[in-house]
Amino acid sequence: MEFKHVEEVLKPEAVGQRVCIRGWIYRRAVVGRKAFVRVRDSTGVVQVVVDASKLGDSLVHELKDIGLEASVIACGVVKESERAPGGFEVDADHFVIVGYSRDFPIKGGEGVDYLLDNRHLWIRSPKYAKIFKIKHTVMKAGREFFISRGYWEVTPPIITASACEGGATLFPVDYFGTRAYLSQSAQLYLEALIYVLEKVFSLTPSFRAEKSRTRRHLAEYWHLEPEAAWFSMEDMMKEAEELVAYMVEKVLEERKSDLVDLGRDVEALKNALRTPYPRVKYDEAIEILQKKGLNVKWGDDLGADEERALTLEFDTPIFLTHFPKHIKSFYMKVDRSRPEVVLGFDLLAPEGYGEIIGGGEREDDYNMLLERMKEQGLNPDDYKWYLDLRRYGSVPHSGFGLGIERAVMWIAGLDHIREATPFPRFRERVYP
Ligand code: 4AD
Ligand code: MG
Repeated sequence: MEFKHVEEVLKPEAVGQRVCIRGWIYRRAVVGRKAFVRVRDSTGVVQVVVDASKLGDSLVHELKDIGLEASVIACGVVKESERAPGGFEVDADHFVIVGYSRDFPIKGGEGVDYLLDNRHLWIRSPKYAKIFKIKHTVMKAGREFFISRGYWEVTPPIITASACEGGATLFPVDYFGTRAYLSQSAQLYLEALIYVLEKVFSLTPSFRAEKSRTRRHLAEYWHLEPEAAWFSMEDMMKEAEELVAYMVEKVLEERKSDLVDLGRDVEALKNALRTPYPRVKYDEAIEILQKKGLNVKWGDDLGADEERALTLEFDTPIFLTHFPKHIKSFYMKVDRSRPEVVLGFDLLAPEGYGEIIGGGEREDDYNMLLERMKEQGLNPDDYKWYLDLRRYGSVPHSGFGLGIERAVMWIAGLDHIREATPFPRFRERVYP
């Protein structure tokens, strides 16, 4: 038996052909002596008509009470059908139930916590196949982009001895009796690797023990991070905007129908193909926000509400740059012409989504870095190896980190980051 995927059956060319499909029962209804079974596979949903006059009353009777998500094999001739989803149906001449499904726990209308307890089953909902395929394309495009520009993919450690992004969100691990942490970012290790390979990137899980539950924070997320020797902040911003435009281009090319099915405004997304993106200095951002009536002053960290307000002023992603040094990490290079700010940038996604990338030029001077560590209350002994990079042939260098789920959330137009990952991790949620 040769099988076809549902997407190949939902086509005018398939009409009149006899096909076999296999999948799971998504919906079913029995009317008189006919069962209308909607079968789902990884590519879509198609209606299969089981007629008792051909396949017997006992099968139709069984289908009347069969549980959703039972697995089945069906063969038959493809016909046009106005009432079937997608416009085609399979008139079954062969139908086998492979795996029964009794009392499938998701019937429709359940609350989010219940659904998350059943996440292993909830992800069978057809929208997740579309989202996870978009995520696949985003990650593939990310890898392709860096490889095509001469970056080497490397494998930094996940278990680390010290913080990259501040102690507040570290996950401790018992490491053979001493304390270690799950990595928040590969950055510090990528910085060591540029002295070997010059341009490197990694795609790894990152961990943040975020105390609050928000729409855009996960405790575990996928992090795409490049780092390049000899690159200025502006050089790295060019990579960042071209990366994001490339990801959007690939998703539009390969997964446009998924975007449409998910309700994404595709025209709005296309604006992100227009590079370069506007560069907005932190100072200007504060002015814009004040004019809009938000209660912020120079020196404040910008949260989700401020980012949202800023993104609504533009229709493409925007860069925010030159932040006050005390709101940014110790490794960011102090602007030599304006020592109260650092050469850091964030890329904010439009339509209210906000930060998807954080990066910048790294402090490459030993003494300046040491001073910044002390300012931020870090113990330089914990970072001896990292300081060494400034002692032995230091070079100017820059990098950034893109949160894959943040990017997918924006590209697919999702309203919560948990939708962008199959088994979301956040406070009070580690099962299933
Ligand atoms: O801005 P962040 O904290 O920067 C860094 O970690 C740098 N060391 C990266 C680098 O320069 N190599 O994080 C980078 C990105 C954010 O812009 C966001 O997209 C994502 O990581 N991110 C999260 N995504 C989901 N859940 C969280 N809790 C996240 N925290 C950061
Ligand atoms: Mg950030």
